[in-house]
Formats: sequence, C-alpha cells, structure tokens
Amino acid sequence: MNAQIERAVLHFRALLEEQIKRVERMESASANAQTTKTKTVVGIVGGDGIGPIIVKEAARVLKALLADEISAGTLELRPIEGLTIENRLARGEAVPAEALEAIKGCDVLLKGPTATPKGGTLESANVTLRRALDLYANVRPVRIAGEGVDWTFFRENTEGEYALGSRGVELPGLAMDFKVITDAGTRRIARAAFEYARRNGKRNVAIVTKANIMKKTDGKFTAICHEVAKDYPEMEVEDWYIDIMTANLVNPAIRSRFEVFILPNLYGDIITDEAAQLQGGVGTAGSANLGDRYAMFEAIHGTAPRMIEEGLGDYANPESILRAAQMLLSHIGRAEAADRLGRALEICCETEKACVVTGDRNGATCREFGDYLLRTLQR
Ligand code: IPM
Ligand code: MG
Repeated sequence: MNAQIERAVLHFRALLEEQIKRVERMESASANAQTTKTKTVVGIVGGDGIGPIIVKEAARVLKALLADEISAGTLELRPIEGLTIENRLARGEAVPAEALEAIKGCDVLLKGPTATPKGGTLESANVTLRRALDLYANVRPVRIAGEGVDWTFFRENTEGEYALGSRGVELPGLAMDFKVITDAGTRRIARAAFEYARRNGKRNVAIVTKANIMKKTDGKFTAICHEVAKDYPEMEVEDWYIDIMTANLVNPAIRSRFEVFILPNLYGDIITDEAAQLQGGVGTAGSANLGDRYAMFEAIHGTAPRMIEEGLGDYANPESILRAAQMLLSHIGRAEAADRLGRALEICCETEKACVVTGDRNGATCREFGDYLLRTLQR
C-alpha cells in the first residue's frame, strides 16, 4: 500500500505542476488572438450516431444561407474527416492528430455529437477539443416560449471536474478524482458572461456553485466572479447553490426572473440538459464553445445510439444542431443570415409546425424537416 500511496503522490505532484503551467499560459495569453482574414473557414464535422444525419441538414442550410459568399470565395464550408469513433479507437487518439490539424486550419466548427466509450482509456473528443482549442466558454441559450423565460448559461468549459477527469487515482478499495478551479480560468468565463449580459441589456446574473461543500474550488469560483462583477455595477448579482437552482428552474413562479448564469463545468453540464428539456427537449438546444481564437458549435445532445440500433437514425431531430448553426452565424458576424435562420426556425418549430420530427416513425424524417426549413427560408 505504501508504494501505491507514493505513486499516487508523485502522480498528484505531476498534475499540480502541469496545472500551474496551464495557469501561466492562460495569464500570458493575449486576449486579442483574433486575426483579420479575408476568408472565413467553417469546418463541418459529422461525428457519430445520428451526428452525420443531422449535420448534413445543417450544412445544407448553411450552404443556402451563405451561397453568395461561398461562390465569391470569402467563405468556405470545409468537411473534416477522421473524427469518427472507429478511427479514434483504431488510432487510440481522442482526436486523431491529422483531424486536429485540419480543425486548426478552420476558424469555427459545426460539429455533430461524438461517441465516448464508457471506461477504457479513450477520452471524449468533445472534452479534448475544448481543451486543445481552449474553448473556455460554453454558452447555452434556452427559451420557454409564452412564459418569458430567456436564459443564457455560461458554463466554464475547460476546468472543474473536466480538467483531470480521466486522470484520477485508484488504490485498492478507493478512488479519487480531482477538480481544478483557477483564478484565470474563472475570470475569463465570468468576464464573458458579464460582457454578454451588458451587451444584451440583461440585469440578473446568477453565480451557481456548491460553495458550501466544495469550499476551496467553488469558493474560489464565487469569489472571482464577484471580483469581476465589480466592473458591472448595473448588474444584480446573486449567489445560488446548484441544488436549489435545479429546483428553481422547474418552478414557474420564479424561473422567468433569471437571465444569465455562470457555473463551473459539471454543474453547467447537468443543469443545461435540465433547462433544454424544459424548452422542449435536449434535441432543441444549441451550444457554443467559445475561445479567443477558435469556436465550436454543436448540438447539446449526444449520438443517440439507441435510435441508430432501432434503425431510427433518419428520424433524428436536427433542431439542436440548427440552433447551433444559428449561433455560429452570429458569431462570425453574419447577423442577417443568423436572423433569417432564427425566424425560419421559429416558424418551423414553434408557430406553424407543418412538419414535425418526433424521433420515431410517426414523425417526419430529418431530411423532410430540412426541406421544410429550406422552403421556409425562401419565403
Ligand atoms: C455536453 C456533453 C459533453 C460534456 C460530453 C459528451 C462529454 O454532455 O456537451 O454537455 O459532458 O460536456
Ligand atoms: Mg452535457
């Protein structure tokens, strides 16, 4: 046992040294990594399971909306190969090196869900990409029509339980994982959230943690968020614990008063699935992963392996990835195209609903919905 403890301590020491280096890199990173380019490259990654099916529809829609720019050569939709579970397993790499290189040649990505095997050593491609591209802000908007609910979640995307999630220690009869919160990492997500709140006329910002229990990490997260909040005196800033906040979200009497949320990684992961379900299902919410240089837009849901097993892949709902595509368009400054897509989605998913995807054979196929949306865009 003593030798095992020794090994664990050495492992922990190496992790600490590595994390300290990461903090140094964050602190020295120039905030303005954006380059001015004449061409925008949008990488298209199908992913696994229902991923390629839904991404295909989103790519068709982007192609239609951006047709002029594509033919003028100022924008390219570039398919990225090799980010499939088969290739990743064969290569033993969460994101195969060539795929990562191809991705780094793009400015933004539209990415379908990717599979992560339970157990084993292969890490999630999502988590690896978020880390490799330093996509620290996971922004997830959720609206409940007719109730005035308009939430935007700012989930920290590179730290917390995810920084070292696959690198805990295991001794006989005991396992330990690590959670990492840093000043620099918290400051940048808090800054992103408050800036968003200010730009969009929001007033209420909720900092959501479990600082009563996770005293060091969530304690730091809360303290740093409040430090950043001082630059935004017009905001009403509140501290909430994650458990009661999950209850608040299902409480129609108070939920519409929340606007912007800032959360550490894992709480943000969990509560955004809850929120998406309240909006109409995890199939309906888009997700943006933003960094200073790159950005990746994806569906909030997974690969739906059960739908594939049951032969229902063609009935997958592309709404979530289409919302992600809308976020992508506004991120790259194509506000008009983003608005057009937003309006068409509202007609197709909320008001007219002439073609409804239900996820089974009673509903429309993904392709049929894509056709409906494209027709709606032409109106
Ligand atoms: C999400 C997903 C991912 C996460 C998985 C696929 C690794 O649940 O984007 O919310 O846990 O972050
Ligand atoms: Mg999740």
